[in-house]
Amino acid sequence: MSSYKLSVLSSLIFFAAVAISCNHSEKKSDKIEIRVEQLLEKMTLDDKIGQMTQVDPGFAGGDEQLKKSVRDGRYGSILNLWGVEKVNEMQKIAIEESRLGIPLLIGRDVIHGYRTIFPIPLGMAASWNPEIVKKAFRISAIECSSQGIKWTFAPMIDITWDPRWGRIAEGCGEDPYLASTLSKAMVEGIQGDNLTDPTAVAACAKHFAGYGFSEGGRDYNTTYISEPVLRNVVLKPFKAAKDAGALTFMSGFNDLNGVPATGNEFTLRQILRKEWGFQGMVVSDWSSISEMISHGFCANEKEAAYKALTAGVDMEMSSFTYAGNLKTLLKEGKIDQKLVDDAVRNILRVKFKLGLFENPYVNPEAQKQVLNPEFLDHARTVARESAVLLKNKNKTLPLSPKIHSVAVIGPLADSPRDQLGTWVFDGKAENSVTPLTALKELLGADKVNYIKGLQYSRDKNKSEFAKTVALAKQSDAIVYFGGEEWILSGEGQCRGEINMPGAQDELIEALASTGKPLVVVIMAGRPLAIGNLLAKADAVLYGWHGGSMAGPALADLIFGKESPSGKLPVTFVKGSGQIPFYYYHNNTGRPASAKNWTPMDSIPVVNPQTSLGYKSFQLDYGFTPLLPFGFGLSYTTFNYSDLKLSAMSMSTTGSIEIKANVANSGDMDADEIVQLYIRDRVGSITRPVKELKGYKRVTIKQGKNVEIIFRLEAKDLEFFNGKANVIEPGEFDVWIGPNSAEGLHGEFTIH
Ligand code: BGC
Repeated sequence: MSSYKLSVLSSLIFFAAVAISCNHSEKKSDKIEIRVEQLLEKMTLDDKIGQMTQVDPGFAGGDEQLKKSVRDGRYGSILNLWGVEKVNEMQKIAIEESRLGIPLLIGRDVIHGYRTIFPIPLGMAASWNPEIVKKAFRISAIECSSQGIKWTFAPMIDITWDPRWGRIAEGCGEDPYLASTLSKAMVEGIQGDNLTDPTAVAACAKHFAGYGFSEGGRDYNTTYISEPVLRNVVLKPFKAAKDAGALTFMSGFNDLNGVPATGNEFTLRQILRKEWGFQGMVVSDWSSISEMISHGFCANEKEAAYKALTAGVDMEMSSFTYAGNLKTLLKEGKIDQKLVDDAVRNILRVKFKLGLFENPYVNPEAQKQVLNPEFLDHARTVARESAVLLKNKNKTLPLSPKIHSVAVIGPLADSPRDQLGTWVFDGKAENSVTPLTALKELLGADKVNYIKGLQYSRDKNKSEFAKTVALAKQSDAIVYFGGEEWILSGEGQCRGEINMPGAQDELIEALASTGKPLVVVIMAGRPLAIGNLLAKADAVLYGWHGGSMAGPALADLIFGKESPSGKLPVTFVKGSGQIPFYYYHNNTGRPASAKNWTPMDSIPVVNPQTSLGYKSFQLDYGFTPLLPFGFGLSYTTFNYSDLKLSAMSMSTTGSIEIKANVANSGDMDADEIVQLYIRDRVGSITRPVKELKGYKRVTIKQGKNVEIIFRLEAKDLEFFNGKANVIEPGEFDVWIGPNSAEGLHGEFTIH
């Protein structure tokens, strides 16, 4: 057969296969729609309102009452019910004893692992590796589905510019592009390839929308977000989640521009449903419907139910405004029956898609997979790839495994619960391997001199300092593990100052004065203002709250089994007074530069009236952050060269290739995360000084180099200008580099 015929034939086979698969999925969804309608017809109003109500067993009036309510069809979903026996028992009541036999949807927060705990999501984001993140979420789904959990309230994809906000730990950081790529990976991992597989779990993109912009970083607070920032930044990862097939969304607690997110028709109905065509289910956040009364947006529960349903919230989490008021609202003609029916359709559709009607029960055998060694091994890989090397003076790291003695110091060296981080309900401290355990195993216990120095991260008691310093002096090197206890980040756990808590800075200073090589490893739920210790320590490794296997992962890096390779998913500020500081800010009319800013200490005591330069900076902090977005060092050195563009210009429908050479000129094989940034120089609204548009994590062998190629499409440069989405002709800068502050520069135009 000629090659021409072969290729025609294979094209035909390909198109036929596509046609068949389209037909299959169309048929499948048609079938689901028919089943939804048939079931809806049989439902009473009570049944419908029941489906729209989700309860936590702790608020259901006791076990017997919960069972009765399930039997009566009063709940469509239960959150925080888990364990094979309990779930199967409750499901049996729903299937066999309720009038219509509609299965329950069992939900729980499985945010960064179920029993095998992965680094906090902010840490996972520092890996810039969607593949390993996807696998981590697949493992979480396998583990939690084995306990009957078929719906997780993840991924949390709130962009934030505020490290004071405790929930920064749960998201992917500040950048809409990075967060979107990871959001897709997370949804794909949670839901798997086949929604009816027993290990598939429904994802829930949360919190829609803007929750991460709470004023002052105080949780649950008001958010004011302009429409361009909403659409160009905040909504991007949500759109990616929707496109990846996320079955559900959760509305947020926040008041968005004067309208609570849970009663927000603009975001929920106009954008999510109409513009994006989302057909899944929207659940409220915990009591966020009734909280619209405290917001001063609704006078009472009846109005709250009315506004939430009208805006597009299908299911109410934990409060009962729907159960208590929808009937009256219908009777009074305030809401249309269609609103209720559509909400129920959205809920049933998810249950049908998950195959719950066919397979409502959990197989007890499935739980054997929990904490599988392969899962733990992956947790170690993710923790390793998440850690970011921030300083390495004179190649202090890696330490040699032949070292005679190491002083292991600090409140987090052996703190198994803290290393798991926030939002861990099911992971257990006893399954954590701490750095102390891992280092003893690696080096032999006799080489490790351990003392805490401070009992916990907030400890201010310096009584152990002298002993600690003495022990450090007897050792060849010091490795200090500190940062924040897990309880200092997470929901409701916000801080005003984000420095190292307790007397840790002082202890680090005392250790630095010994003159011994000092490595500081930070385990924390947020980017801390670590300027002091960054100046004092010889090497600094940022390990976040790294999960069950944080210990071995950090030991791998400290002793050079692998090089650190993570990069910061957020800008590190010098202190709270620099917040917000995100790399893609717009320019001012008076940008500061190294030449035109005035450090506070250089100002003479007696001054004429002056503005000290009329530029945009702070006298104490200057105009640059502590560390830029995308930053991260390696044990090896990467050299960037030969930036080339395939064309100097493209049309608004075109694309160009941008490439550069990256050489590993050091003495170790290692991964580098190569980043592509652009700047749209002039726009119909002002444009950010830089925007991430691509990245690649590549392994480069020592002495080798790799050509990194990015394809940039004009449509990647589209933005919302306050009126419409536009791709505007004009001049653009482009950079390929190792972080947001450095890179090879080129330029192109769009015509
Ligand atoms: C949080 C949600 C979470 C829900 C259920 C709320 O307080 O904001 O993110 O999914 O509780 O636990």
